[in-house]
Amino acid sequence: MIAIGCDHAAVNLKKAVMTHLDEKGIEYIDLGTDGEPCDYPVMAKAVAEKITSGACERGILLCGTGIGMSIAANKVPGIRAAVCSDCFSTRYTRLHNDANILCMGERVIGQGLALELVDIFLETGFEGGRHQRRVDLIRDMEA
Ligand code: RB5
Repeated sequence: MIAIGCDHAAVNLKKAVMTHLDEKGIEYIDLGTDGEPCDYPVMAKAVAEKITSGACERGILLCGTGIGMSIAANKVPGIRAAVCSDCFSTRYTRLHNDANILCMGERVIGQGLALELVDIFLETGFEGGRHQRRVDLIRDMEA
């Protein structure tokens, strides 16, 4: 199960991502917004807590740049949110960082690329090994 959220700057991209997930038969929970002006930290917290509670495996957060969402989501212990706008970074934030939230900016990348990044993010596993030790060190910093 995927948790998805956006602010008013990324409603169109969220709709495109949800249609893409529908076509792939991937289940998700949409935590808003549907278009009303809102404050991105509210959606970031809602999506982050779906993951830390275990209700969802991963999340997708969308705003104008993706940056505000990532800053806010990363305040929640256990969250590793990565802003991505290229395939390489998206693949490696899964392989090496075990990122659990993908953040993207509707004002930064086109829909075609964004949907490709969603696929990479959801299909790429964590490498573990030496990278697990580094993720554990990040967890230690949260304690
Ligand atoms: C909203 O105007 C914009 O600030 C927001 O979507 C995001 O880009 C913040 O990081």
